Amino acid sequence: RDMELEQLLQAHEWTSKLYHYLLKNTEHGKPALEYLRSRGINDKAIDTFQIGYAPARWDTLVQFLDKRSFDLKVMEKGGLISSKQDGTGFVDRFRDRVIFPLHNRTGKVIAFAGRILGDGQPKYLNSSESRLFSKSRTLYNLHQAKTDIRKTRQFVLFEGYGDVISAWDAGVHNGVATMGTSLTESHANIMRSLADEVIVCYDGDNAGQAAALKSISILEGVGFNTKIALLSDGLDPDEFIQKYGAERFKSQVLDGAVTSVKFKLIYLKKNHILLEEDGKIAYIKDALEIIAPLPSPTEREIYLQDLSADLQVSYDSLKQECNELRQAMQ
Ligand code: UTP
Ligand code: MN
Ligand code: MN
Ligand code: MN
Ligand code: MN
Repeated sequence: RDMELEQLLQAHEWTSKLYHYLLKNTEHGKPALEYLRSRGINDKAIDTFQIGYAPARWDTLVQFLDKRSFDLKVMEKGGLISSKQDGTGFVDRFRDRVIFPLHNRTGKVIAFAGRILGDGQPKYLNSSESRLFSKSRTLYNLHQAKTDIRKTRQFVLFEGYGDVISAWDAGVHNGVATMGTSLTESHANIMRSLADEVIVCYDGDNAGQAAALKSISILEGVGFNTKIALLSDGLDPDEFIQKYGAERFKSQVLDGAVTSVKFKLIYLKKNHILLEEDGKIAYIKDALEIIAPLPSPTEREIYLQDLSADLQVSYDSLKQECNELRQAMQ
């Protein structure tokens, strides 16, 4: 038996209970509880996601672990606490932050993310990488979402913790998120063992849309059928749900998710100035690069018809150019 690993898992479990208790039942936790409520996170969500609070002191967790005879050096290596700069001891890694426990696939707590209350840097702080926790392989909420994902063979991929939580509260129980890094091939492979289709539901800002492009190519690389949810006004899914409600999120954003080709065309269009001829021509050229390689003639036709109507260019000339490009590609 690997005693060190078991110690670490035990410590993470207890730490998550401690932080959850401090949030819900103490005077220290009140501002954090207020903060969560102001963001529309209700008590049920706080329990479902075991959200907690790490107090503003330097040694709440260090004392707690020490009292329970955990080896603090092991805890530090496990990413749970930090060593003091002068090497004389240990301090809490998370101070005055809302705590989101991160679980592995089987539901064991393996790390934490701490959010600052309000504005400030860094907005989120994660446990350091450890034997337990690797960002590039961890998906937030997978342990709870996997039942639904297996049943529907579909999952929704979000950017952030708040998005997963608000979506869950809205009845979307197949949502997961990466941990602030971009999606990796490991993430994609893990998901591929459970599902065939994914809806990428990233933030509506430029960063989110650019990240979606990258994720699509990784997801399609492992054989996923991908769809992309479009969010207006630069909102993220959490903000959309708080502003417009659960029903609109499901019927408009998720049910309205577009194919990856459509998404790429919309994305391209935003980056060209279509008022000028050369901008229009450049857009068509880029768009045809996406459409021409599509294996299905009907699919190509649908996108070419769209493009034709949108730009007032004849379908025939688009089709001709598309076929020429297609031939050149073979
Ligand atoms: P966002 O900047 O979109 O944050 O980053 P958010 O999820 O909407 O956060 P709120 O709503 O302001 O609380 C998306 C994700 O990137 C990671 C987190 O996982 C976050 O949820 N991130 C972001 C970090 O790890 N560190 C940061 O400083 C910022
Ligand atoms: Mn609880
Ligand atoms: Mn974002
Ligand atoms: Mn966001
Ligand atoms: Mn957000």
